[in-house]
Formats: sequence, structure tokens, C-alpha cells
Amino acid sequence: MGKLKIIDHPLVHHYLSVMRDKKTPQVEFRESLDKISFIIAAETFRSLNLENKAVYTPFKKIEGKKIKDKLVLLPILRAGLGLTKGFTELYPEIITSHIGIYRDEKSLKPVQYYFKFPKIADKKEATVIIVDPMIATGGSVIFTIEYLLNMGIRKIKVASLLCAPEGIEAIEKRFGKEDMKYIEIISCSLDEKLNDKGYIVPGLGDAGDRMFGT
Ligand code: PRP
Ligand code: URA
Repeated sequence: MGKLKIIDHPLVHHYLSVMRDKKTPQVEFRESLDKISFIIAAETFRSLNLENKAVYTPFKKIEGKKIKDKLVLLPILRAGLGLTKGFTELYPEIITSHIGIYRDEKSLKPVQYYFKFPKIADKKEATVIIVDPMIATGGSVIFTIEYLLNMGIRKIKVASLLCAPEGIEAIEKRFGKEDMKYIEIISCSLDEKLNDKGYIVPGLGDAGDRMFGT
């Protein structure tokens, strides 16, 4: 699991425990996810590239910095929407694109129903940050990464809340060493396993349902 980075932060441990608690009501669940999304975003942005920019302070000219990368945020609908706040508030210049995927309840295979992406002349220059709170079998993320690689995107980050070992292994197996060079995965916890219905254990249940009250 070489390309997986687990965030170790007291606020993540605190709010993740709130979210895992089956008694936590919808509003508190969403508020906790909003808060964690800032820490996930800060950690995901850590590896961005900078360029120099002249800055004139009240006293002198200095060599300042600005973000160089062209950033696209790609939430996987629906539950991915719950992770966007930290990214868009910390860096409002990020373009938000959307992919709609749900998991077929029986086969657990991803089913795509929507995709909207900005017109970008040089796709190799764009950094796409896929956000989805849950990486279970890995099917939804694998589908999305394949889509992006086929489009010519070469800088991909996957930001999540929880992941299962089965999902991370599936991603690494599908893309191999060569494509994994383009992919970075950030999460708040590598949980124990999947249950026989494809849910993450201990997990937090169905993220989309708990977030949207369905
Ligand atoms: C959940 C979750 C991921 C996917 C993870 O979405 O948000 O997208 O399942 O499972 P996988 O790794 O096995 O593909 P779901 O299909 O429940 O749709 P929703 O976001 O609309 O609730
Ligand atoms: N999707 C969820 O929302 N939760 C899981 O545990 C697995 C997939």
C-alpha cells in the first residue's frame, strides 16, 4: 500500500469517532464531515507545486509564491459532495467537475450516470483531485481513474475518509507500478475489512444515506 497516505491528526480522530457512532444524527454527521474535509484538503494540497511571484510588502519587494497547478476537484456523486467544502473554501480557484456513479447493490459494480469536466487544453498539466468518503471494493474510484487516464490526465489524487484494504489492493493491482506513479491516495483511516455486503468494517455505514438523510 505504498501510495496510500493516512492522515494522523487529533481533530480527524475526534470527528471520525463522531461520524462512526451509529447514534450520531444527520446534522452532526454532516458538520463533522465538513470539518474533517478541511484537514483532508490541507493534506491533499501539501504536494502542490508553487511558482515565484513578486510581492511588494509595505517595506520591500520580495520573492513570494503562488500555486502553479491547474486544479480540478472531482467529487463522485453523491457522497463525494460531502468532502468538497474544505477544498473549495481553502482554494476557491479550484474548478469543480462531477462524476455520477452508484454501486449496484447486488454486483457491487460501479454504474456511471453523469460526467461533466472543464475544457482544458493541456490535460497533462491538470491535477485532478477525486473526492469520495468511502473506498470499499475500490470499484468506483478505479472506474473514475480509468476515465481520467483515458482522457490523458496524468496527475491524480484520491482523497477519502475511510478505505478498506481490499479497495486499496484492487486499485494498486489494477493500475500497476507504471500508472500508480500518477496516483496518490489520501485517507483518514485504513479500516479492517469489507463485510459480505461490501460495507467497510468497522466503517460508519452508508455515507450517502447518513449525509443526506435517505
Ligand atoms: C458509495 C461511496 C462510494 C462507493 C464506494 O457510493 O460513496 O462512491 O459507494 O464503494 P466501492 O469502493 O465498492 O465502489 P454509493 O454507491 O452508495 O452511492 P451514493 O454516493 O449515491 O450514496
Ligand atoms: N459505501 C458506503 O457508503 N459505505 C461503505 O461502507 C461502503 C460503500
